Amino acid sequence: MTRKVHIKTYGCQMNAYDSVRMAEALAPEGYEETDDPAAADLVVLNTCHIREKAAEKIYSELGRLRLLQNERRANGANMKIAVAGCVAQAEGEEIIRRAPVVDLVVGPQNYHRLPDLLRDGQKSAKAVDTEFPAEDKFASLPERARQRTPTAFLTVQEGCDKFCTFCVVPYTRGAEFSRPAADILEEARRLAGFGVREITLLGQNVNAYMGDGADGRGWTLARLIEALADIPGLARLRYTTSHPADMGDDLIAAHRDIPALMPYLHLPFQAGADRILAAMNRKHTAAHYLRLIERIRQARPDIAMSTDIIVGFPGETDAEFEETMQVVREVNFAQAYSFKYSPRPGTPASTMDDQIPEAAKSERLATLQSLLAEQQKAFNAAQIGRTLPVLLEKPGRKSGQLAGRSPYLQPVHVTDHGGEIGQIVLADITESSANSLSGVIISGTKETKVHINSAPPASGETAGTLLRQ
Ligand code: SAH
Ligand code: SF4
Ligand code: F3S
Repeated sequence: MTRKVHIKTYGCQMNAYDSVRMAEALAPEGYEETDDPAAADLVVLNTCHIREKAAEKIYSELGRLRLLQNERRANGANMKIAVAGCVAQAEGEEIIRRAPVVDLVVGPQNYHRLPDLLRDGQKSAKAVDTEFPAEDKFASLPERARQRTPTAFLTVQEGCDKFCTFCVVPYTRGAEFSRPAADILEEARRLAGFGVREITLLGQNVNAYMGDGADGRGWTLARLIEALADIPGLARLRYTTSHPADMGDDLIAAHRDIPALMPYLHLPFQAGADRILAAMNRKHTAAHYLRLIERIRQARPDIAMSTDIIVGFPGETDAEFEETMQVVREVNFAQAYSFKYSPRPGTPASTMDDQIPEAAKSERLATLQSLLAEQQKAFNAAQIGRTLPVLLEKPGRKSGQLAGRSPYLQPVHVTDHGGEIGQIVLADITESSANSLSGVIISGTKETKVHINSAPPASGETAGTLLRQ
């Protein structure tokens, strides 16, 4: 019997990856995916607990689903509702108490048990599974069955042992765990076989990766990237998210030595004042962070830097916020994510004195975001006149356009000039905006492999060398 499942994803890229894996785990049970929740026999909300707003969204969504469920029941059908992800892990059966419409609560470590849970759930009314099991869930999930886009995520590491005082992730994702390299290489080869050209390696602390190597030794992320770069068809590799304390010399060198490793690095620093960084338990100072960026830029001068920043951590003064602004000025980010501090239940910072009033947080965020927006706009504008390799990912919004990404992760809209989705083409960049670039494909370019120079871009210079077939 075919049944329909609708999976709605919130939060980070790891949730996006998990949703794909959940769909694949449910396929042998006869579940096909649907975009339409009203047509679903099963709705899974894959949730995020990182800030209060993210978590609260789930309850309003559950309210809407209750109405849909009533409609389906009136028509003689049913709809089961499952809550997965980090809210499931953090709140457990409390979710069912608050929203009785929920049938099943499953934490991120237990997606391989979803089919069993659904079967059990047919017997008992409700099921909750938020244990941290000892087994490797990835080894128990069915192998990757498909990938329709030329870019894919691949989780290599999960969990966090850092315990930043503001953050729920160590509680929702558990202790750090690295998948064995052989399993990752196998999954990457399958993805390449489906036509994937770019893989983003995921982990809450991806650069703390230390997995059993394919050669019997412990492999770092740099060693893993080196092995992945040899897989035929894979042209681009990225990784996220990194912690400054785990940015090893070999990973910095990989940015110089491995052409497939894209010149983009997301490296959160959170705050510029050392007193706040210590209160956050970040394990780095502002000077350590700035020195690190210097070394990364020595290895890869054109690297685009991205970061995460929190404003209004408990006790943050105006002068300390200004130190955050100063780090931003010194680094000059290509892009960044910035947030108002949100107290999270169970975290040490939530009970600290001197919580900052909402109005001050909003003001600091606006000041910071206007500087970050300026930097991003300038970074995009600096690409005009360059020729960049663009991985074509999907049809553009306007007809006659294709949309792809530059090596620096900027969205690029190009005129459809014979390029195909999944191809890496050279495009002359003609326009930029706050968030994206536009360009024209250089006619007749047919690529097999693109190597990007690591030299800093000079105006009008091409950033890519194209090897023709
Ligand atoms: N593992 C990553 C980030 C995980 S969460 C790292 O170590 O940086 C993504 C981002 O959300 C964090 O970098 C942080 O900037 C933000 N964040 C986490 N907890 C938060 C909180 N309580 N309030 C506001 N922002 C938060
Ligand atoms: Fe959260 Fe810190 Fe771990 Fe990142 S390193 S996931 S911010 S506790
Ligand atoms: Fe959110 Fe969990 Fe990711 S809290 S950011 S979904 S790890």
